[in-house]
This record gives sequence, structure tokens and C-alpha cells, in this order.
Amino acid sequence: MIERVVKQSVPFEPNSKVVIFGGGFTGQHIAEIARQLGATVLCSRRDIKSKGADFEYDSYTSRLPPKEVLNGVTHIISCIPPLSSGEDPVLKNLKDEITKLPLKWVGYLSTTGVYGDCKGDWISENDIAKPTQSRSIRRLSCEKEWQDSGLPLQILRLPGIYGPGRSTLDSYKKTSLKAIDKPGQVFSRIHIDDIAGAILHLINTYSQDISPSIINIADNYPASNIEVLEFAAKLLGTKLPPIESFEIASKKMSPMALSFWQENRKVSNARLCKEMGYSLIHPDYKSGLKDCYSSIKKTDKNLVN
Ligand SMILES: NC(=O)c1ccc[n+]([C@@H]2O[C@H](COP(=O)([O-])OP(=O)(O)OC[C@H]3O[C@@H](n4cnc5c(N)ncnc54)[C@H](OP(=O)(O)O)[C@@H]3O)[C@@H](O)[C@H]2O)c1
Repeated sequence: MIERVVKQSVPFEPNSKVVIFGGGFTGQHIAEIARQLGATVLCSRRDIKSKGADFEYDSYTSRLPPKEVLNGVTHIISCIPPLSSGEDPVLKNLKDEITKLPLKWVGYLSTTGVYGDCKGDWISENDIAKPTQSRSIRRLSCEKEWQDSGLPLQILRLPGIYGPGRSTLDSYKKTSLKAIDKPGQVFSRIHIDDIAGAILHLINTYSQDISPSIINIADNYPASNIEVLEFAAKLLGTKLPPIESFEIASKKMSPMALSFWQENRKVSNARLCKEMGYSLIHPDYKSGLKDCYSSIKKTDKNLVN
């Protein structure tokens, strides 16, 4: 629902130029909306031939983007995950160039994984991050690098990201899909429309000197895997896949998948939605999945025509 994000957001000031490092799933979506709101937007990908690449940036090659990319930049959004060394892939090569720019706002996309396991409790930005997984420890160290940069920064902590083309509806394409049952386990989520919408809201509030350094961007309703799969099945007119206990499923999981199931938390969005007045486009997974479903239906219709 890009139109809705555009409608509820304040347009960029004239001559705004946004550079997005990491134009993947989320970066491309933010770019599309920011362009409709009047900004010039340039997105990096590691291969210039990739869809939506405006310039090439791969931290491992240490090749800097052409000078004209950073000229006149007013806003930077980094969507690139930490390097295996724990260093930030953008600051590693570009810190000197970036810190010289007259930037109005910088957003660093982080994860709510930095909170670690909360045993199913609610967690907010006021709680101390206690990451346990090594990737979340690396993430917290990237957050610190960005905080130490002295840039006009906000850290945006995100739970599971979904949207058209990457949602529970798509998981039904896998014949091996199972509904994993782990009583008491929930996951927080966020639809990409709300990542973009919240970022645009924050850019606007930051310009009015409302500038908390860390903001969770999550929907209102953490839910179990089975609950979300059940709703997705209803939308698709199919059956829930076989239910498997976590005990059995965990024996076949990749270490990465297992690490997600080892942490249980409900991410509070009170700072963003109550204190800062952001209004969610998809307050829960039902609204978000309906949006993903309507995008599938649109694509199907296009194929038929
Ligand atoms: N997916 C989730 O559920 C989730 C949840 C919480 C937080 N996050 C974090 O939020 C951010 C955006 O997530 P996403 O799902 O939109 O990610 P994504 O689609 O995987 O996009 C990541 C982007 O980073 C680029 N990239 C990766 N390593 C790089 C490197 N060494 N040098 C330069 N560019 C590099 C990728 O380049 P290419 O375009 O060339 O591939 C891609 O554009 C990421 O930091 C992610 O870790 C994700």
C-alpha cells in the first residue's frame, strides 16, 4: 500500500537527496516511496546489474562510490547487516566521507535481536540490550559505531520484516512447510510499508527536534507461528500444514533458524506510536498479510491478462 504511506507522509524539502546503502527488500521499498515524496534517491547494491541499483557498493572490495553519489546528500539510510568481523560495512570504508557531509538525518536499520531472550516479556528501548546470539552481538557493536560517529543518527530496531513477495503466504510454496508448535513462543513483526512510513515520520519529527536515539519499529501484535500460518491458510484457501512440536522440529533446523526460536520477546512500539505519534498502516499481521495477498492477486490478474 505504497499510496497510503505516501498520503500520510510529509513530502521532502526541495533539493533533498537520500542515499540508501543496501537497496535490498526494505531499501528498495523505502526508495520507491521517498521518490514519490519528492526526494532524489540513490540505492546501492553489490552488483550494478542488480534490479534497482543506482550505484555499486560492496564493502569487501573497498571500492568507494563515485564522488557524485555523495555530493549534496541530505539523508542516509543504511540497510546493510554487520560484517562477520563485527564491523559496520558502511562506516568501515566511508566514515570519513560521510562525516564531512552536511547531513540532516541518518537512519541505521538494526534488529530487535539485540535485546536477547526476554522469556516472552515485553521489551522497550528503555531496557538494556543483552544480546546472546553472536550476530546480535555484532549488531550491537555496529549500533555503537554509528552512535560514536557523531552523525544526526537514529537507530531503528526491527523485528521480522515482511511484505509482498516475502511473507508467510510465500512460505506455503514450500512442500516441506510445518506449523511448529512451541507453547508460549511469539514473534514480533513489521510490514515494509510501516518501516518506510515510520522512517518518513521520524525524518519529519527529527527536523522538529524530537530525536530519541533508538526507536523500535514493530506492529502492535506479536503472535505465534501457528496463528499467523492459520490466517495465511485462510487467505489462500488452503489447509494448515502438519503441526510439529518444537522438540521434533528443532532437531532438523539450521543453526540460524534455531537461533530465532531460542529467543522469545514482545517488542513494544510505544515510543514510536504513543510518544511520537506514528500511525501504523498494518497494526497487526492480519492487515499486513491481507495486503500481501492483494498484491499476489494483482500479479495473478496481470498474468492472466
Ligand atoms: N529480514 C528481516 O526479517 C530483518 C529483521 C530485522 C532486521 N533486519 C535488518 O534490516 C536490514 C534490511 O533488511 P532486508 O531484509 O531488507 O535485507 P536484504 O534484502 O538482505 O538487503 C540487504 C542489503 O545489504 C546489501 N549488502 C549486504 N552485505 C553487503 C556488503 N558487505 N557490502 C555492501 N552491501 C551489502 C545487500 O546487497 P545486494 O542488494 O547486492 O544483495 C542488500 O542490498 C538489514 O540490515 C537486516 O539485517 C532484517
